Amino acid sequence: MAVRYNADTKTFILETKNSSYLMKVSRYGNLLHMYYGDRIPDEDVDYLVVLADRGFSPNPNEAGNDRTFSLDFLPQEFSTSRSGDYRSPSIEAVWGRGEVSCSGKVAGYEICPGAEKIEGMPGLRLMPGEKGETLIIRLEDTVSGLEISLSYTVFEEKDVIARSVRVTNRGEETARLEKVMSVTLDFMESDFDLVYFSGRHLMERGVRRIPVSDGIHSIGSSRGASSHQYNPFAIVCGKDCGEDNGQCWGISLVYSGCFLIEAEKDQFGQLRVNGGINPQGFSFLLEPGETFQAPQAVLAWSGRGFTELSHIYHRIFRENLCRSPYRKKPRPVLLNSWEAAYFDFDGEKILSIAKEAADLGVDLFVLDDGWFGCRNNDDAALGDWTENREKLKMGIRELSEKIHDMGLQFGIWVEPEMVSEESELYRRHPDWCLREPGRPAVRGRYQLVLDLSRRDVCDYIIEAMNGVLDMGKIEYVKWDMNRSIAEAWSALLDRNRQGEVLHRYILGLYYVMDQVILKHPDVLFCGCAGGGGRFDPAMLYYQPQIWCSDNTDAVNRLKIQYGTSFAYPVSTMEAHVSVCPNHQTGRITPLNTRGIVAMDGVFGYELDPTRMTEEEKEECRDQIRFYKKYYRLIAEGDYYRLTNPYENRYFTAWQQVSQDRKKSLVSIVITDREGNDAQRYVKLKGLEADRFYRIEGWKGKYSGKLLMSAGIPVPADLTEYAGIQLILKMA
Ligand code: DGJ
Repeated sequence: MAVRYNADTKTFILETKNSSYLMKVSRYGNLLHMYYGDRIPDEDVDYLVVLADRGFSPNPNEAGNDRTFSLDFLPQEFSTSRSGDYRSPSIEAVWGRGEVSCSGKVAGYEICPGAEKIEGMPGLRLMPGEKGETLIIRLEDTVSGLEISLSYTVFEEKDVIARSVRVTNRGEETARLEKVMSVTLDFMESDFDLVYFSGRHLMERGVRRIPVSDGIHSIGSSRGASSHQYNPFAIVCGKDCGEDNGQCWGISLVYSGCFLIEAEKDQFGQLRVNGGINPQGFSFLLEPGETFQAPQAVLAWSGRGFTELSHIYHRIFRENLCRSPYRKKPRPVLLNSWEAAYFDFDGEKILSIAKEAADLGVDLFVLDDGWFGCRNNDDAALGDWTENREKLKMGIRELSEKIHDMGLQFGIWVEPEMVSEESELYRRHPDWCLREPGRPAVRGRYQLVLDLSRRDVCDYIIEAMNGVLDMGKIEYVKWDMNRSIAEAWSALLDRNRQGEVLHRYILGLYYVMDQVILKHPDVLFCGCAGGGGRFDPAMLYYQPQIWCSDNTDAVNRLKIQYGTSFAYPVSTMEAHVSVCPNHQTGRITPLNTRGIVAMDGVFGYELDPTRMTEEEKEECRDQIRFYKKYYRLIAEGDYYRLTNPYENRYFTAWQQVSQDRKKSLVSIVITDREGNDAQRYVKLKGLEADRFYRIEGWKGKYSGKLLMSAGIPVPADLTEYAGIQLILKMA
């Protein structure tokens, strides 16, 4: 059984294949967090908590004169505010006459088959035939009437525990929630590092590793989207943890809006990690009887380092999250018009690009920005989702038919959440955007943000998007979002509900996506927010692939994709070959290398093939043939980071290994060369130690053990920015 309650020890036990998670009801009814780590036998772990009389650590009233019981140092499952625990709480609420104290005593529990359904937001699902159970523990504060339901779905075989929290107001007065975390994870020690993924537009998800130290280190977003700056994923790990060794705990939030992950080392050297909706600017009114649902948090533990942790996340995100039929289907190789033409095109130019794309062996042509309203630049027409016949000199139907006649599928770009001031929509509904009264709106890329907290605005977008999808035969949609949200004020909400806007915006976005997908279930949706500004599991639920970054420079992409790979599988990261000099960095890299790097993702092109030489076109044809031949290995193989691009400045290498370990692809890109250079080696991973492998194009065969312990020489004839792909097959 994945979930048990031991009534003798008052312990809740969650078990996955390799991990155990234990909580215990304290003698006064609080829920203590006892253990999360390597799977252990069913035993009493009470001894782990050592009570002591500690100065300035208050005692709850029910502890009477017992000065050794204080929530200030006890490891808790969900910490309530003003209860004598001075660490950052899991929940903060105001009710009645301004009271803020809250206590959460265990009031009951149930164990249900199946996965928890997260109301209004995406969450992991159990697949048919998969074992899994959900534990719901009810905490109650009898004075305020707040009831906190903690839920834990155990994906036993996948080694994952998905947590979520629901708060219900069972009292008689309105309560205002000011902070509700989806997860609190207390550790009794803090000799750990925190790994997180931060960056900026064009340089997303850089890997940062810092020691946990006194005070609070927090990462998060207040931009209305999960953001380019920080990803809603973090890892707590032992000091000795590396790719292949050591303990690590992953926390991933299934949420696309403002989030917070905070790590606090307390006065006693213990660690608390909280994750959930960012409380900055957030508040939510709960009328009596109403319930607030917090987003899901996906937890995983590995005792064998980051690689295994990544494999756990890759598998669950690939198999239990995305609900599109493309979850299992090979993704089409696409050519996108953005870097090929930007806004400068008409129908004929698009058709000539598409014709060459078809000749290369591409499957899908994507018409990016600039096809609608009066959009010839990025300063107009968002919101007017009508085709620009004047510019295209034909309609989308005709264009898409002509493209289909070339043997290609057709995809289109949209940015539904935005409005340009220079648009019909804005002229008709100036109040539909997020803006404070009496103040001119903050612009980003000349555009304003539609108020998705409003149902009427959402319904307009749904209708507009359904309209776009009915304009022709459209198999793919790139759903973009190109600015951070500044104002969070909605014309339809009361003064005391304005703190709900950014969360309601995200709920509105999920509603819109749900409705559009319901009507067009077979369309492949690609997420985008100026590249990777909303690269999170919740978007992956709707959009199985996301444009990883607006930066197509192959060398920068090595770091971006390296960081992204810690949580997200190759099948989620759209990556394109573009021209050189690269439009973002001016760097010149070989076409072969650009192909190798783009194959570390969902492969495609973003260039004008009519401007390519015959030789270059032939090279692209080879790339597409190679990608299609090894698609399953690339997209579904176990992924190994062989080097750390932040430490190894000479080359970056990674590897995919098929599930049966019979086939592997090793990719190497040279990032720096010196004269009379040292011979460098790369150690392979994931092979069967006592089986032999042949490397295509190389002589001889070598044992997995040798290849993994001595490695292979990095071919010495590779010059700076050159790359190579090596196929290994079990002999
Ligand atoms: C930002 C995206 O990331 C680009 O790929 C492109 O679609 C532009 N928007 C179009 O405006």
